[in-house]
Amino acid sequence: MKYVFGLVLLTILAAGGLMGGVIVLRWTDNMTSTPKIVPGERTFEMPAGTLPRSGGELTPPREARDLAARRPNPVKATPESVARGKALFAIYCTPCHGAGGKGDGLVSPKFIPPPDITHPSIQKARTDGYLQHVIGTGGAVMPAYGEALSAEERWDVVHYLRSIAAK
Ligand code: HEC
Repeated sequence: MKYVFGLVLLTILAAGGLMGGVIVLRWTDNMTSTPKIVPGERTFEMPAGTLPRSGGELTPPREARDLAARRPNPVKATPESVARGKALFAIYCTPCHGAGGKGDGLVSPKFIPPPDITHPSIQKARTDGYLQHVIGTGGAVMPAYGEALSAEERWDVVHYLRSIAAK
């Protein structure tokens, strides 16, 4: 009789423990299985009438390069603009294009070698709008810098590219 009582008590305790465990598990688990929005999962439409704090210039998509190439450079080619472009070029472009834009950066032997961007085949054939668009949206394999550089900064880099054109 004593053993039966012990066994029943043990069973009740075990069942209670199990149920408690299930409640604890669901309690903690419920917090993660509620509907939620993961950062970057969706983009929201801005409310009508919202104004951007700066810029606001839309970058045409990669497919619209011909259209983008027709845009004139809105930034004046002042020495300050060229200097800003030079500093940005040193940060973002030298790894592949090299300090002088000749395509001899440290990365180029390990990557697809970039062209000499001081050469007339690029300097003469490409408009400012085209170059600014390539920098923002990337080339065939070249990465896009639209996230790192603002539209104005990309125009500055174009002025710098013009300043290193082979004569
Ligand atoms: C990871 C290496 C890499 C980096 C960094 C890089 N480029 Fe390039 N770039 C390339 C390669 C490779 C090409 C040629 C193939 C292509 O268009 O993707 C190229 C092409 C170009 C061209 C010629 C485009 C054309 O169609 O005539 C220009 C201009 C240019 N890059 C400018 C820049 C500028 C400015 C930066 C910095 C903001 C930069 N690149 C950063 C690799 C790079």
